[in-house]
Amino acid sequence: MEHEAISIRYLEISPNILASFPRFTPPVPLYAFDEKVRQLKLLCRAEQRLTRKGREELEGLCEEGLLYLARADYKLYAAHLSKNLGLVLTEDHLSDMEVAEIFLLGLAGRLEEFYAQPIDATLEILRKDVSVLAEFVWAHPDRTRAFRFTIGGQHTLYLHSARVCLLGMALYAAVLGTGGDRRHLGDSAMAFLLHDIGMTALPEFVTDKDRPLFNQEKVRMREHPDIGVRILERLGMRNTVIETCAMQHHERMDGTGYPSRMRGDKIHPLARVCAVVDAFCAMTSERKHAGAKTIAAALAIVTQDPGFDPKISARLAAFLTD
Ligand SMILES: [Fe+2]
Ligand SMILES: [Fe+2]
Repeated sequence: MEHEAISIRYLEISPNILASFPRFTPPVPLYAFDEKVRQLKLLCRAEQRLTRKGREELEGLCEEGLLYLARADYKLYAAHLSKNLGLVLTEDHLSDMEVAEIFLLGLAGRLEEFYAQPIDATLEILRKDVSVLAEFVWAHPDRTRAFRFTIGGQHTLYLHSARVCLLGMALYAAVLGTGGDRRHLGDSAMAFLLHDIGMTALPEFVTDKDRPLFNQEKVRMREHPDIGVRILERLGMRNTVIETCAMQHHERMDGTGYPSRMRGDKIHPLARVCAVVDAFCAMTSERKHAGAKTIAAALAIVTQDPGFDPKISARLAAFLTD
């Protein structure tokens, strides 16, 4: 089996990646190239306990470029990378689509941990991953086109928030350009990711209902922007962009939104991007009370509804159809 044939079915593991594995229990099956038979053979299974000697052997093979994992085990590998997002910046063998999936899993996972336990430690980990995303968008704005592959699928608060963040950042890269304040990119990503933080304080019978909401439940639901800002304040996250996005992402250009019925330019530009992406991501995912709309149907709604900024929905359309 020669090099090209190998690379169709296997990925070479770099020393960087090997260093990220737990020392004695690799999370994926590993293969080594056997020079004698010129074939790959299984070296160890996923989670198999290695001896010190076994680990040294892996390191030696890896240095020589002879250590591989099977592309068939990609899901396991993606799950590992999603917990070590920084690797996305240094590994160049990942396709744009794989990077998008790794970001989706990683951000949704970190957000779930933070919402389950909103303390400094989980917030720090979340911040680190958000800064990896900001760095990626800054360095490769063109590669954010693949973030469209995260659209659709199951709706959970975490996956929804991560999709809004990725799509929002892709539009942000296209709409506002990546010039200007680099830190603003990180704040924007955090703002998109935390836009629904107020939902964590609502009872599950409202957020997870499998039928349309009663009026009284709608009133509760409409409190989530205000509640979100209060939670952010309590966490000491006094950042205008993050607070504004949580507060204004349900405001609409024609004044039909909530909680303040703001209009047009009074709504912060980032909250206007968030509004379009939020509605689009919600409609295209499988929710308990409604099935997923097609991309074309959801796009038709956000481009025709006067509640959304037409410049931003047109950018979304261009982004999805180019
Ligand atoms: Fe919301
Ligand atoms: Fe949302």
